Amino acid sequence: MTEKQRLKEIRRRRTFAIISHPDAGKTTLTEKLLLFGGAIREAGAVKSNKINRNTMSDFMEIERQRGISVATSVMGFEYNGIKINILDTPGHKDFAEDTYRTLSAVDSAIIVIDVAKGVEEQTEKLVGVCRMRNIPVIVFINKLDRMGLDAVELLDEIEAKLDLKVTPLSWPVGMGPSFKGVFNIFEQKLALFNPHGQQSEDDTVVIRDLDDPQLNRLLDSSAETLREELALVRGVYPDFNVEDYRKGELSPVFYGSAINNFGVKELLDCFIQIAPSPIARETDIRVVEPGEEAFTGFIFKIHANIDPNHRTRIAFIRICSGKFERGKPYYHTRLDREFRFSGPTSFMANKKEVIDEAFPGDVVGVNDNGNFKIGDTLTEGESMRFKGIPNFSPEQFRYLENTDSMKHKQLAKGLEQLMDEGVAQLFVSQQSNRRIIGTVGALQFDVIQYRLEHEYGASCRYEPLNLYKACWMTCPDEKILKEFRLRKARYMALDKYKRDVFMAESPWALNRAMEEFPDIKFHFTSEF
Ligand code: G4P
Repeated sequence: MTEKQRLKEIRRRRTFAIISHPDAGKTTLTEKLLLFGGAIREAGAVKSNKINRNTMSDFMEIERQRGISVATSVMGFEYNGIKINILDTPGHKDFAEDTYRTLSAVDSAIIVIDVAKGVEEQTEKLVGVCRMRNIPVIVFINKLDRMGLDAVELLDEIEAKLDLKVTPLSWPVGMGPSFKGVFNIFEQKLALFNPHGQQSEDDTVVIRDLDDPQLNRLLDSSAETLREELALVRGVYPDFNVEDYRKGELSPVFYGSAINNFGVKELLDCFIQIAPSPIARETDIRVVEPGEEAFTGFIFKIHANIDPNHRTRIAFIRICSGKFERGKPYYHTRLDREFRFSGPTSFMANKKEVIDEAFPGDVVGVNDNGNFKIGDTLTEGESMRFKGIPNFSPEQFRYLENTDSMKHKQLAKGLEQLMDEGVAQLFVSQQSNRRIIGTVGALQFDVIQYRLEHEYGASCRYEPLNLYKACWMTCPDEKILKEFRLRKARYMALDKYKRDVFMAESPWALNRAMEEFPDIKFHFTSEF
């Protein structure tokens, strides 16, 4: 393969995630996109990863199904000469950290908002992570076939709550029972709503001039409203500019109804034109460009095989530069040793297949016998580590105690592997040596207990622990840090890399520590 061909492969890739608050329509939209790509033939092929009941058995059942078909983690397909990789994210809020990590492996995101519900809690958190990483965001406002918030009000809400600057690239004509269609500002086309689930070219009318009398014929009295609203849009919102979007400074907005497959093609056609191809990524020593000849990549997800007969796990590598080749030795920079992958897999919709090569933007799955942790970097020999895959301070904490003294080895091994997968975070109290598990939500505690028992034959119980946050610390003066460790000894723990962590009991305790030690900087993510 010539260099020109390799660069072409990179340019034609779009790797992104669809994120939303549960129920806004992420699964439905994903499925429609796959239908357009011809990756699936019928609706219903994409399994929702939603947990309807808030119970662990429900979660395990879904995980078991997903374990069998890990392919849902990445959905790749071709559309108009573009290779699209959709990275799946968990639907449940207790697993939000998994979503944060997946966002480290994408180049852009589409957020889905329910027109009736507006901006919801989970959307705020996820977009917060996109902003932190300057990930370009496209907004898709869904369920226009239902009554919802006024279009301008909703855009105001998005700007205020998500801190995103927006500009509509399409505009709805009516809503709910009077929903007539969407005017595509990007291409100056009117798409008429036909609630039959299969939008066709015949439903689209090209309108070069808004004064075109065709508009009145097609929309009756709504035509005048549309003209007025579009004039308003032009006056209030900035012109779309692809550079601003790619810098994460301007988010285009589309409207539609995913379930009716309406407005989805517009979204997809615009997406492949404007969304960035694989971008450069930062490491601890330098920036890696996707076009570089040498292969680099990092692990952003580890999927355990829930089947107890097959203990191997799948590690997902996001390729950042060069070309990944089957069987070639790659350098694992943390372990300082080489690995060869004889059966790397790629994921095309719901099929998983062994591949010989893959390019930046692609995700390949490799078998892992416990050698990988999330965040590990692979190269062709260069010693470096990709940045941007931090742990966030957990929100809930419990002491974990072994309940079977004969199985302490199994417990230690199980805990280590679950933590490598990123299920939760383990801290060890420096004073008492007790293990502390930190999670985003309560469900994760149950999952850990269940999996320790079923996969590792170990048993544990939890004891309540009232903590507010885990903070990492930096200070130019080592003496001050030493003093802090002495004074706060009861609250000091070590993380998995044996770094100091201050476990603040309350916002008050944290504030007090900050006041007492103004030279220390407290961090709420593990990467600073
Ligand atoms: P999620 O992955 O973001 O959680 O959402 P999902 O796609 O599962 O959609 C949530 C619900 O919203 C589903 O209904 C789905 O059919 C519905 N939905 C999606 N898009 C639209 C739309 O454009 N208009 C309307 N009216 N509804 C839409 P459900 O009753 O929860 O599930 P189902 O039984 O229909 O599958």
